[in-house]
Amino acid sequence: MNYAEAEKVLKSCGQEHALAFWKKLSKKEREQLLAQIATIEPKNIKYCQNALAKGAEVPDSSKGKAPKVAVLKGKKLAEAVAAGEKELAAGRVAALLVAGGQGSRLGYDGPKGCYSIGPVTNAPLFYFHARKVLARGNRYGAPIPFYVMTSEANNAATVKCFEDNNYFGLDKKDVFFFTQGMWPGMTKDGKIILDAPGHVFMSPDGHGGLLAALKRSGALADMKKRGIRSVFFFQVDNPLVEIADPAFIGYHVQERSEYSLKLCAKRDPFEKVGVPMQFGSQYRMVEYTEMTDEQCKRKGKDGKLYFLYGSPAIHVFDRAFLEREASKNMPLHLAFKKIPVVDGKGCVAKPSEPNGYKFEKFIFDILPNAKRAAFLAFDQKDEFSPVKNAEGADSPATCKADLQAKWLKWLAEAGVSVKKGVPVEIDPAYALDAADIKRIGLCLGAE
Ligand code: UTP
Repeated sequence: MNYAEAEKVLKSCGQEHALAFWKKLSKKEREQLLAQIATIEPKNIKYCQNALAKGAEVPDSSKGKAPKVAVLKGKKLAEAVAAGEKELAAGRVAALLVAGGQGSRLGYDGPKGCYSIGPVTNAPLFYFHARKVLARGNRYGAPIPFYVMTSEANNAATVKCFEDNNYFGLDKKDVFFFTQGMWPGMTKDGKIILDAPGHVFMSPDGHGGLLAALKRSGALADMKKRGIRSVFFFQVDNPLVEIADPAFIGYHVQERSEYSLKLCAKRDPFEKVGVPMQFGSQYRMVEYTEMTDEQCKRKGKDGKLYFLYGSPAIHVFDRAFLEREASKNMPLHLAFKKIPVVDGKGCVAKPSEPNGYKFEKFIFDILPNAKRAAFLAFDQKDEFSPVKNAEGADSPATCKADLQAKWLKWLAEAGVSVKKGVPVEIDPAYALDAADIKRIGLCLGAE
């Protein structure tokens, strides 16, 4: 893109102020600014301006009902596992990790996936995810392609982490990195913001940016070529997640679902998690901020919370559903933030109060579009303990303690005793569950 083209694009959407300091910019700064402007689509600017004009809509959740949530046991569990194992063995399952977030609460300088979480080896979060993908594929004799969404800010460091670690044992051809989009921030009047004379303030477009990025990068086409049908979605910060676990995959397939969600019982009525609700024949994720106190505290006939289940963002998608949704516009969520801004003379000021909006898309906004959805309960302590904050709840300390507790439970089930206080760590490629430890333990004993 050259100056004239940039000016034309910006004029078409009332943003020509982005070139205000052009004459003062170095050659390199000019090139960078033009490259940024090339990513700005006038239709997206209008879309953001419309979202601003409408303001943050709080949808009415008062008519929402609790959806039917399956708790699989006995024969039903065995049947779901068998269906999942069939899907895995047929090579129809992919793993999809969203790792493009900024991790601002953790305050770690780098991709969150590179953060050390192994209690013994200090292995990064990516290690546990990748080794689980590897182990699950090995167990069923069909590699699971691993799609990793990054952002412009962390893509290079993410790829380097995988390369430095020899892809954690995965075959490089089965790992597909793709980068989510960036959206410009805006003032209240719908003007994009320069945070330096030659730089437009932009931020990642949220985990919902996944859909457009999957399509743009060719990842969706790659999935299709490989014959993928079920796409297991998870977040980077939870090393307890059971990636592509057969019961969940199987239940999704049995239900002929387009969008399946694993749900766990809330730890308290006001826990800050999204709650899926049913509205007629549709489902929608209701954020905790959209629920009334009465809804949070309401009890069902069984004396338990009526809206008992929250979503830890562990999903299975039908690939064809993702394809269908990838071409549609998603709703935008607004976040009012402190954004550095240049003044008329080109000096950068850091505001003390929020002054501009960031725009994000959330993946669960496609739930109402699913022709069929399914909900499966699981035990939170077995599969969910995210690293969100530097300290306190949902921090590295709580996550490591939960990892330890899970592994110690497996070892105890396999009859292995561990001295109290000794840190343990299990490589997922060695054992994906207690049964693996038992089997390998027996093998070793027999040698
Ligand atoms: P979070 O909502 O926890 O956001 O992301 P975050 O950016 O990681 O952390 P904070 O809020 O700044 O502290 C949940 C998941 O969604 C991914 C994250 O990488 C994480 O796996 N995500 C989030 C993206 O991939 N892209 C985004 O734009 C936002």
